[in-house]
Amino acid sequence: MKNTVVTFREAKEKGEKLTMLTAYDYSTAKLIDESGVNAILVGDSLGNVVLGYEDTISVTMEDMIHHGAAVARGVKDALVVVDMPFMSYQTSVYDAVVNAGRLMKEGRADAVKLEGGASVCPQIKAITEAGIPVMAHLGLTPQSINAFGGFKVQGKSEEAAKKLIEDAKAIEAAGAFGVVLECVPAKLAGLITETIKIPTIGIGAGNVCDGQVLVYQDMLGMFSDFTPKFVRRFANVGEVMREAFRSYCREVQEGTFPAAEHEYGISDEILEKLY
Ligand code: KIV
Repeated sequence: MKNTVVTFREAKEKGEKLTMLTAYDYSTAKLIDESGVNAILVGDSLGNVVLGYEDTISVTMEDMIHHGAAVARGVKDALVVVDMPFMSYQTSVYDAVVNAGRLMKEGRADAVKLEGGASVCPQIKAITEAGIPVMAHLGLTPQSINAFGGFKVQGKSEEAAKKLIEDAKAIEAAGAFGVVLECVPAKLAGLITETIKIPTIGIGAGNVCDGQVLVYQDMLGMFSDFTPKFVRRFANVGEVMREAFRSYCREVQEGTFPAAEHEYGISDEILEKLY
């Protein structure tokens, strides 16, 4: 059954954990969707794990539309959330609504996600009023990496923790249907989860959140540039892929691939006429 914002609201009411994973292409999205996950995030982590950038700053609207639409074609049941890239919503409320609309019309998003708290509430309100569900993202917000001075846990001081709680209340009041909490101390994430009625989706925020999200290449051991503390490797697919690629090279070099069963035939009668 198709997951919607109502699924998110009801899961929190019933105390059922929500599951979310990233995807960036059709085949992977299809596999993830078949696993029964509630939501697929076409994250701007695309910049790191697919496009090979050091951060998410260079990711464009065209990138997100291109990959969003590919994912949406592979998904039947999961809610497809597409990230709004850097500078597609910070510049003005007008830009935010136009770009969220493009992610929905051209990128086939069911919902969009944007980073920030009180400062982006006018955008959240306007996008929501345009009929586009918005997921917020607080804590370590990678688009602000230069302002943070690196990938650091957020909300550790009293002032920063209070600001995060206020931001969570503000994005809820502005109409967000859920919020990602990234790299936040687990007890603070628990307090935020108790304080607001919309579901919190944690990544590096402990298991008290209403749901969890991970970048799929991290959980499958397919991305080794850096592995954050909060990642668990559920499989070592990277090694399986490396071994399969090696076998392919070896078998082509040895002449054992392709084998007879991979060939297409032609009748001897026609073949004789070709010499
Ligand atoms: O871009 C992304 O993948 C994200 C997750 C880390 C939550 O925003």
